[in-house]
Parts: sequence; structure tokens; C-alpha cells
Amino acid sequence: MTAAIRASTPVAGSRIVGVGAYRPARVVPNAELVDLIDSSDEWIRRRSGIASRRFGAPEETVVSMAVAASLKALAQAGVPAESVDMVVLATMSHLRHSPAAAPEIAHLMGARSAGAIDVSAACAGFCHALALADTLIRSGTSRNVVVVGSEKMSDIVDPRDRGTAFLFGDGAGAVLVGPAAEAGIGPVVWGADGEHKDAIAHSASWLDLRDGTTPWPTLRMKGPMVYRWAVGTVPEAGRQAVAAAGIGLADLAAYIPHQANLRIVEATASALELPPHVAIARDVVETANTSAASIPLAMDRMLAQGEVDSGGLALLVGFGAGLTHAAMVVTLP
Ligand SMILES: CC(C)(COP(=O)(O)OP(=O)(O)OC[C@H]1O[C@@H](n2cnc3c(N)ncnc32)[C@H](O)[C@@H]1OP(=O)(O)O)[C@@H](O)C(=O)NCCC(=O)NCCS
Repeated sequence: MTAAIRASTPVAGSRIVGVGAYRPARVVPNAELVDLIDSSDEWIRRRSGIASRRFGAPEETVVSMAVAASLKALAQAGVPAESVDMVVLATMSHLRHSPAAAPEIAHLMGARSAGAIDVSAACAGFCHALALADTLIRSGTSRNVVVVGSEKMSDIVDPRDRGTAFLFGDGAGAVLVGPAAEAGIGPVVWGADGEHKDAIAHSASWLDLRDGTTPWPTLRMKGPMVYRWAVGTVPEAGRQAVAAAGIGLADLAAYIPHQANLRIVEATASALELPPHVAIARDVVETANTSAASIPLAMDRMLAQGEVDSGGLALLVGFGAGLTHAAMVVTLP
């Protein structure tokens, strides 16, 4: 007779127990970018709400920024790196096809007994990775999971492309997720629409680069189409995530959508008809769109500046290239 194997012992819930951010030192105001794209500070602020962003120096990489943000999240949680058993990195700007960046991040953090994987879901990557962490912990597979979004978008954006050059920035945000007696991360509501894979995409593949048929591939975007998709999809996913968590909009303390641009943040907040007490993340104004890093960066800022309190409920909605989206309600650390 075949021996029966034992499954992991499930736990009731998981929750975010610490958050950390890394913002590169160099602040880049709109004025520094406008000449190459025949634009103006006024146009960029009006169309995107963005006033400035950070660009990493050569030594500030997806890996180094992720390590710095993750160590801050661990310090806040009071959990040593040796106790981390999984590191999940969400990124779209780690420019080496293999290996993944997460094993190096785990090594540099001192997370010696951790598994480590990268998740590729662009600007929706952090919420996808957070849903995986919740599932790993509730199933009993892992106890302490670092979820980190880290992006050096300045490496993959063409400073001469009018549609994207002003939108993106660099940085990293991380959370530590651990087991809890009650759910601190609600059910994920996610989806993908690969029919529109070209809406936000690199201009060419690495094979084209090898074959000499393209210059350095950079990010291109059908801006107006992406805008329409986002203002339709994000409120719907947000409403479903709130219902799936068994709460109402009035129970929320914060709305932290992916910081794509301020117009999308405000249009989706208004479509959701959030009660006035719900604090809305606006980190995009000084950080621009940092793709997978934007939600934990915004969460860190809101908590640090006292816009929301620890223990409050926040609706997170990630959305971006793929097209992909993922939403859930979390208890803030
Ligand atoms: C990118 C975005 C700000 C552009 O704004 P828009 O109003 O859609 O701009 P359009 O491309 O329709 O162009 C409108 C006008 O602005 C001009 N324009 C475009 N880019 C410009 C720039 N960087 N500076 C100045 N003018 C610009 C266009 O030439 C056009 O001029 P015209 O009316 O004389 O023809 C907007 O589409 C957007 O926010 N999209 C969503 C992007 C996003 O958040 N993506 C991330 C998702 S993860």
C-alpha cells in the first residue's frame, strides 16, 4: 500500500506585519524631462498630477532597492531575516532573464532558509504576489513571507517617448506577511485580458535586439486606451474585493490603488463613491508611477504621515500591462 503523505497544517489567516520603502536619492522634477518630449511642467501636472519622480543612480538597482525596502519592513515587524521562509519579488524592470532576482535579494537580506521567486504581472504584480503570500501562509506552507515590489523604470523607459517619459519613476516597497488568528488579507479578485497585450508593451523583443532589427526595447503605451480600461476595470474589481471581504465601503480607512497617475486615482475613487472619511493614496504626485512598487510605497507614506492608522482597512487595486489586475482588502500594519 502506498504511504499517505501529510499536508501542511493550515492557519486561519495572514496579515501584513511590517512595511518598508526605498526611494532613490535623486529627485527629478518635470522641468528636467520636458525638453526631450516637447512638453511642459504645466501639461504633465494637468494630465497626470505628477510633479516629480526619483531616478536611481547606477548602483541603485532592482535588487539593492528591494533589499533596502525589505529590511525596513522586517525591522518594523521585529522579525529577523533568518526567520523569513519565502521572498516574492514583483518587478517588470529586472533586466536579466535568468536567474530571477529574488534569490539574490534573499541572500543579501540574510534570509538563508527562504524560497525565492519573481512574479511578472507588471503594475499589478504587488497584489498578485500578496495574494500568493496569503495563500502560502494560510495553507501552512510558509510563515514569514517578504513581498517586495522593486522597479528601475528609468532603465526601460525612452526619455524621448512623449507618451511614457514623464509617467514613470524608480523605487521599492516591501511588506512582511505573517500568520494571524483572523484574516488580515481578504480574498483576491483578479483577472487578465491578453487580447490587449499590446496596450502596454516593450517596443520589441530581446530576439529582435539580438538580430539587430531594433534599438534598445523600451516601454510603449496606448495611453488613452489604457486610461479608459483602468477607469472601467479598477472600480469594478475594487467593489468585488470589498464584497468578497464581507465588508462595506464605509468600513474602509484607505484606498490605495496602483499609482498610475493622479487622474486615474481620482476618477476611480469617484466611481467607487467612497465615503469622505476614506483616505486616498496620492504618492504618485512626488513618486510618479513605480509599477509594482507603487502600492507598498504609497502605503508606507500614508502610515508614516499619519493619513491612516495601523489596523485600518485598505482597499488595494493593482492594474497594468498584460493586461492584468488584482484587488483585495487588507488590514494595515
Ligand atoms: C498618457 C496620458 C497622460 C496622455 O494624455 P491624453 O490626454 O490621453 O493625451 P493624448 O495622447 O490623447 O494627446 C492629447 C494631446 O496632447 C499631446 N501630447 C501627448 N503627449 C504629450 C506630452 N508628453 N506633452 C505635451 N503634449 C503631449 C498630443 O500631441 C495631443 O495633442 P493634440 O490634441 O494637439 O493632437 C493619458 O493617456 C493617460 O494618463 N493614460 C493612462 C496612462 C497610465 O496611467 N498608464 C499606466 C497604467 S499602469
